[in-house]
Amino acid sequence: MSKIEIKLSDIPEGKNVTFKWRGKPLFVRHRTQDEINREGAVSLAELRDPQHDIERVKKPEWLVLIGICTHLGCVPLAGAGDFGGYYCPCHGSHYDLSGRIRKGPAPLNLEIPYYEFTSDDLLIVG
Ligand code: FES
Repeated sequence: MSKIEIKLSDIPEGKNVTFKWRGKPLFVRHRTQDEINREGAVSLAELRDPQHDIERVKKPEWLVLIGICTHLGCVPLAGAGDFGGYYCPCHGSHYDLSGRIRKGPAPLNLEIPYYEFTSDDLLIVG
């Protein structure tokens, strides 16, 4: 199936849930206000693949990412690494809570799929 429906009330604040979509891992993270504030305050000058957090989300509390490391394609671990977001154990890439590459060999931020919110409680990816 090309689309996946995700019920947002099943994902507690502060948690990442991994789904499978089109044969790939899909990360959906319910960010806390502290996390949103922290990512919003990051300067573009600190970033290898410069993108503001606001360009990477449709609603600040929901981070939606393809869970494939942009280095050589391993699946990063959620809630790990030096920036609290994702950590790829294959060669040590650290991503932040916006899915942006912050340290290690990966060249690019984690990819964001096409998605939309069809109601307050429903996310559709694809
Ligand atoms: Fe993730 Fe190499 S595949 S760091």
